[in-house]
Amino acid sequence: MIKRCLFPAAGYGTRFLPATKAMPKEMLPILTKPLIQYGVEEAHEAGCNIMATITGRGKRAITDHFDLSYELEHQIKGTSKESLLTEIRALINTCTFTYTRQNEMKGLGDAIYKGKVLVGDSAPFAVILADDLCVNPDGDGVLKQMVKLYEKYKCSIVAIMEVPKDKVSSYGVISGKEIEKGIFMIDNMVEKPDADKAPSNLAIIGRYILTPDIFEIIKNTKPGKAGEIQITDALMTQAKKGMVLGYKFKGKRFDCGSLDGFVEATNYFYNNMEKKK
Ligand code: G1P
Repeated sequence: MIKRCLFPAAGYGTRFLPATKAMPKEMLPILTKPLIQYGVEEAHEAGCNIMATITGRGKRAITDHFDLSYELEHQIKGTSKESLLTEIRALINTCTFTYTRQNEMKGLGDAIYKGKVLVGDSAPFAVILADDLCVNPDGDGVLKQMVKLYEKYKCSIVAIMEVPKDKVSSYGVISGKEIEKGIFMIDNMVEKPDADKAPSNLAIIGRYILTPDIFEIIKNTKPGKAGEIQITDALMTQAKKGMVLGYKFKGKRFDCGSLDGFVEATNYFYNNMEKKK
């Protein structure tokens, strides 16, 4: 039922300079696969087949990655290297990739609003922030878990996890009533609060399911934290009008927007490789 997934990917990735000077941060690899491909695979597993990316200047490598590369394919045809392209080819064959640009950095809410032209406003859609890399070795991926929850509650959902109190100021933070184990009906959410003002230590991570009325709400949302249009603020409005859920997902999340998380993810995937050379 949720067929479209948005990938906001217009950010500069300044924490990874100089690596991200000429290369999009979403193309940084964990082992041999770029971050955004992990996100696209998770969305595909969840049932999405339209992958809509909000890009910006200097992000063409993303578009090229999700397209055929005839020269390369020709070169490696029939060699042992061919199998290295199996996964990406499968995605290219089964998904449609669409793109639009966010010309100015005006916040995640604004980036998502720019995605309206790609996902339309008649059906719910998913959002994945590719630098939050999620895995669940024991079952469904995080977005698939959320899609299943959507089928039951039919409202916007954000993935949440507990973080140490001194880290809450890096996240959107929620509070709410636990209506089922690990499922919270949100009554408050604040973008990057100071530790002493945070409603809890339940932080939003980069997985969302949004109902399309969010676009009209974003349009009427004033700039918030850092002078940017925050999806957290728009979701708070939605929560007041109806219902938004926070879902404590099953699995692991790596903050690949930070050096520590990036190294942690690299080690995790290296240690869990099916075939170690
Ligand atoms: C964004 C959101 C924030 C959320 C975070 C998850 O912040 O604004 O609410 O907690 O993603 O990664 P960013 O990390 O882009 O500053």
